[in-house]
Amino acid sequence: MRQYAVRGGSPLVGEVEIGGAKNAALGILAAAIMADETVEIENVPDLSDITVMLDAIKAMGAYVEKVDRHTVRINGSTVHTTTLDTEAIKTIRGSYYFVGALLGKYNNAKVSLPGGCSIGSRPVDQHLKGFRALGAKADIAEACIVCEAEKLIGSHIFLDVVSVGATINLMLASVMAEGQTYIENAAKEPHVVDVANFLNSMGASIKGAGTDVIRIRGVEKLHATHYTIIPDQIEAGTFMMAAAATKGDVLIKNVIPKHLESISSKLLEIGCEIEEFDDSVRVVAAKPFRHTQVKTLPYPGFPTDMQPQIVVALGLAEGTSIVTESIFENRFKYVDELVRIGANIRVEGNTAIIEGVKKYTGSKIMAPDLRAGAALIVAGLAAEGVTVIGDIHYVERGYEDFPEKLRSLGAQIEVVENELELQKFRLRVG
Ligand code: EPZ
Repeated sequence: MRQYAVRGGSPLVGEVEIGGAKNAALGILAAAIMADETVEIENVPDLSDITVMLDAIKAMGAYVEKVDRHTVRINGSTVHTTTLDTEAIKTIRGSYYFVGALLGKYNNAKVSLPGGCSIGSRPVDQHLKGFRALGAKADIAEACIVCEAEKLIGSHIFLDVVSVGATINLMLASVMAEGQTYIENAAKEPHVVDVANFLNSMGASIKGAGTDVIRIRGVEKLHATHYTIIPDQIEAGTFMMAAAATKGDVLIKNVIPKHLESISSKLLEIGCEIEEFDDSVRVVAAKPFRHTQVKTLPYPGFPTDMQPQIVVALGLAEGTSIVTESIFENRFKYVDELVRIGANIRVEGNTAIIEGVKKYTGSKIMAPDLRAGAALIVAGLAAEGVTVIGDIHYVERGYEDFPEKLRSLGAQIEVVENELELQKFRLRVG
């Protein structure tokens, strides 16, 4: 069983380069099949979820060429099916973007219900409501989302909850619909804007992405493009927290500092120094942390995908901090693992009450999902002694070369496959 072995206790120091945004890439790859010409996409992160998306695109008959590790060419003119129900596709969340893309292009889609991290009930009612508003029949049958339309007609869609997935899916479905579509109470996350920019570069007419009303004028068809995906806000934020929790000094390069403001401001509040440059951010953590309060909110609020990482940092702050999770109802599962390494945290409903401790002490823990897994690695880097983190496949879904990047900052972290390798690691790191 693959695990990460981490010898913590030393500050991370140096520079690290952030890759392309996973959650933008998932939407963009699905959107790519909507053109019958070749689109070239750069800065695609090399992650297991992305491989599953690319395999699904191939399975539908589209042309997929990996130009290099981070560049892919896709041509959707040879798509021969609108059904997608492979075993692999069931394991990822981004699969639901194929519903919007296939429905938008072919008026037809049957795609397995999405998987992804188990962090709450994660319904798709807002996606279905939007597809129906565009004139499609949209239902769940045989564990698939099944949609069909004579033709799609632009409409006013008011989302009852701010949903990243529904916003992106409805942009995809309406981009070639007849007339105008308005998505109201839309999500404003950077990756929503990135998918809109990508579609616009293919000839779509989408205005207002990044605000809470998105206006889409349907166009006849989409064409070739060459596009570069934005840097990953959450990967960047995770390295910022790693720098903070280990009392380090790290320059995080290839980021859009504006996307990181909610994270930077919390780090400033607890006592870190933050320096912002055009496309990088430096985090220096020299002083003891002060306690604070955090509530996760849709963008530009504090991201739910950064909630476990900030809890790890606040676990080492003086006094009592309160973290409220307002997006997903079951995103504190990792707290039990953090307690094993010495954190003093109590969860009441959607709130974590964190009594800061002086230090964490290495132990054996399990990653319950992607972001929590990354947060537990950060905790291990801050802990005294050796921490062993299991179920690392979750982390590999969303962080490219995570151990390598951490090692370049001085971390002692290795993938170990068995007890013998773990013993060797322990001997090596002392
Ligand atoms: C996206 O999930 C991301 N996933 C998540 O990242 C991220 O945590 C989340 O947005 C919030 O930012 C992808 O982009 C693949 P939502 P998504 O629809 O689209 C409720 C990661 O670690 N809701 O914005 O599934 C829902 O239950 C992952 O990278 C409905 O009620 O999230 C939640 O409470 C984890 N009905 C809220 O909206 C719906 O039809 C926000 O969910 C849809 C959503």
